Amino acid sequence: MLTLFGKPVAKNILDQVRDKAKQFEKASGHRAKLVVVLVGEDPASLIYIRKKGETAELLGLDHETIKLPISITPDELREYIDQLNANPRVHGILIQRPLPKFTDETEVASWIVPEKDVDAFHPLNVGRLFLGLPCLKPCTPAGIMEIFKHYKIPVSGKKACVIGRSAIVGKPMAALLLKENATVFHCHSKTPDLKSITQFSDILVVAAGKPHLIDASYVKQGAVVIDVGIHHNTNGKIIGDVVFEDVAKVASALSPVPSGVGPMTIAMLMKNTMDAALELANSGSSLP
Ligand SMILES: NC(=O)c1ccc[n+]([C@@H]2O[C@H](COP(=O)([O-])OP(=O)(O)OC[C@H]3O[C@@H](n4cnc5c(N)ncnc54)[C@H](OP(=O)(O)O)[C@@H]3O)[C@@H](O)[C@H]2O)c1
Repeated sequence: MLTLFGKPVAKNILDQVRDKAKQFEKASGHRAKLVVVLVGEDPASLIYIRKKGETAELLGLDHETIKLPISITPDELREYIDQLNANPRVHGILIQRPLPKFTDETEVASWIVPEKDVDAFHPLNVGRLFLGLPCLKPCTPAGIMEIFKHYKIPVSGKKACVIGRSAIVGKPMAALLLKENATVFHCHSKTPDLKSITQFSDILVVAAGKPHLIDASYVKQGAVVIDVGIHHNTNGKIIGDVVFEDVAKVASALSPVPSGVGPMTIAMLMKNTMDAALELANSGSSLP
């Protein structure tokens, strides 16, 4: 059984970003820049943002975190985003989730100009993805496609099952697999007899957000299994949606948690920032 570690895949992506960042700085006289907007003080978000900043730093990208109070109004938040949209030195904008309840995440995502939408959550980027057109792609599913590429796992012609239909993981994952000519079965909490679908799938991507939902009884002999879930169990250990030791007995390849999909998400965010900067520079646009 092949363990699909994300680190070597992420390293290749990050090396490419580092090279491009150097060239970009040389050609433009300034660095590509990612701005993360945080509303409130969610402790997990603070950790994720610190990690993003450290990675950007290592690659030669500029980064800034704008911390806004939880008391901010939607109009004030939109004003901040408009300023970032108009700033030609800002190339990537990410609104850290979860957002406070006062506003709809999809609406907030639509306030970012699509060209700087490095989370790829803007309706235009979502639409382009589903039409199979070039666009910034959501980091986690795009990172999973890179894992397939790196480990030479064929996708075309395979039966692929995606469990989960969130806007940020499940839906774009299904779209990316379909674009690569997989036959996609898309499951969710209302899918009856989930096992009957997973058991004949060559590829299984599990993004249900349910600890240890999938054991070996769900998995076809020789299938490739990607575990997107992240949870802290009662002992403080990080676990996924898949029972690793059990599924490892039947799968031909399986991504671990941690160290599987996780490292890809941040790598793809850096890639999206660099791609956005290059695209903006090439189009000669400082936007909007
Ligand atoms: N590694 C990373 O970088 C990374 C990035 C993002 C997310 N994650 C993790 O990935 C997991 C999923 O994240 P998400 O944001 O997509 O979660 P989410 O928004 O909670 O979506 C979960 C999806 O799974 C479906 N589902 C829940 N229970 C199910 C069941 N028993 N059978 C079949 N489908 C079921 C839900 O169906 P309904 O739509 O019917 O409710 C929903 O579509 C979480 O653990 C999250 O922490 C990891």
